[in-house]
Amino acid sequence: MSAALHRLEKAVLVALARSGGRLTYEELADRVADAFDEAGIGWSLEHEARVSAVAKTCGWLSEKGYVEVDEEKPQKVLLINDEGLEYAVHGFPERRLVDFLRENDGEVSVETLKTVDRSGIGLMWAKKLGWIEFVKKDSTTYVRLGRWPVPKTVFEQVVEKLYHAKQLDFNQLSSEEIEAVEQLVKRQKIVKVVERRVRRAVLTEEGLRVAEAFSSKPLPALLAEVTRLTSEMLRTGGWRDVSFSMYDVAAATPPVFAAKRHPLNEVVRMVRQTYVEMGFEEIEGPIVELAFWNFDALFQPQDHPAREMQDTFYLLEPSVGDLPTEYVENVKAVHENGGGTGSKGWGYKWSEDEAKRLLLRTHTTATTIRHLAANKTPPIKVFSVDRIFRNEKVDWKHLAEFHQIEGIVVEKGANLRMLMGVLKDFYYRLGLREVRFRPSYFPYTEPSMEVEVRLGGRWLELGGSGIFRPETTHPFGVRDPVLAWGLGLERLAMVIYGVDDIRSFHLNDLKWLRSVSPLQPLHATERV
Ligand code: PHE
Repeated sequence: MSAALHRLEKAVLVALARSGGRLTYEELADRVADAFDEAGIGWSLEHEARVSAVAKTCGWLSEKGYVEVDEEKPQKVLLINDEGLEYAVHGFPERRLVDFLRENDGEVSVETLKTVDRSGIGLMWAKKLGWIEFVKKDSTTYVRLGRWPVPKTVFEQVVEKLYHAKQLDFNQLSSEEIEAVEQLVKRQKIVKVVERRVRRAVLTEEGLRVAEAFSSKPLPALLAEVTRLTSEMLRTGGWRDVSFSMYDVAAATPPVFAAKRHPLNEVVRMVRQTYVEMGFEEIEGPIVELAFWNFDALFQPQDHPAREMQDTFYLLEPSVGDLPTEYVENVKAVHENGGGTGSKGWGYKWSEDEAKRLLLRTHTTATTIRHLAANKTPPIKVFSVDRIFRNEKVDWKHLAEFHQIEGIVVEKGANLRMLMGVLKDFYYRLGLREVRFRPSYFPYTEPSMEVEVRLGGRWLELGGSGIFRPETTHPFGVRDPVLAWGLGLERLAMVIYGVDDIRSFHLNDLKWLRSVSPLQPLHATERV
């Protein structure tokens, strides 16, 4: 049982048992110091720190039922400040001043005095107390000692008493002393009056039993704490007589900021892992893309507003690239007249020059259609999490460079219900339980749906989805239904990290980066 006690607890129990089981914290601080002394252990703390150590220890002991803490009504006590301590040891400035005068035949010029009493405080008080007088000779002022010996002032008496007692009960002071104290407080804050609660530790019966059990051990062995078991101790059996210090595995430690992923990268990682769990493979495509793949292949007419400069970043140099010749005719036909897909197309003259233009891809659907052109046979389940660019004005919900979470499933007989199921499953796995769809429009899908998730009572638009139209798939020889979607990554990250300004992800605010962790459970364990 005693092994579980800290050595301060043991020392407090011993000190209490020795003094009849009842001591104030102040007294305990001294008695504990005595016990450590006796045990030959240093306790390098100032009195105040000792008292607080004792207070803390009594708290532990009272939790264990070994002591009871007895609190009295608050009491006004007088304490000494640093300035007071200094005066107690080296004398008040006025005292030092008259001592100096005495050593110099009782008369010194004001100029010379300034070398020993720089602030002039000693001079002021010596004058006030009537110990000195000023004399003018020629144009020099001298200070002359009035009488000798100079009696101890009440100030000096109070400070001296306080220095030895450490604290004085304010109510026990004489009226003369109280007056002096008031001046001392005003003067340089030499002493201070505080409200103090006198607290007493009282040994309980159980505490007494524990303390008595200690008496069989010599104090040094009881209080000395050994942190390391040595071979010597094992050989001699000395380990029996020492106390080993306990490890406090619950002790607070300084925070450690270990390396961690950037929140956006963390979401990318979560998304990748989720897709892989769902049986998808990752694909990649170029950031600098042909308008052909970004727009034309997706049956987006060449006069579509999204193609305008204010929505899309076009490259100046090089401004054009090479078209995939094997598909040019098919895509041209689909745009101009439907190309035998049953559609009438857009009915305009399709321009190769427009399709050749180079741009920063505005969506990862460009990467999807590239992949489809090269892989036409189902089953296909692929995804990409990658960067896209739009000529947007940056604000709390828009960036010009961001990420999309794209995916397709190509399978015979795939339908809208499957698409909804896949998207719901995807968000479910990321911890987002409520997903709904609204009808929408994209030139390349039919039907088209907006995907929304609910969080904190609000429905958030997270992306678009649909089944590719024949005008999108036929020119590339794909004949099976293609379920497709493109979702916002930053929007999802905002939900996951509880961020309401999309720019937060790029400000590199270290404090925020260190403190953030995802709000939503990653890869939720409970699945439906
Ligand atoms: N590309 C669309 C967007 O950027 C999303 C989308 C992808 C819609 C695939 C339907 C199918 O918003």
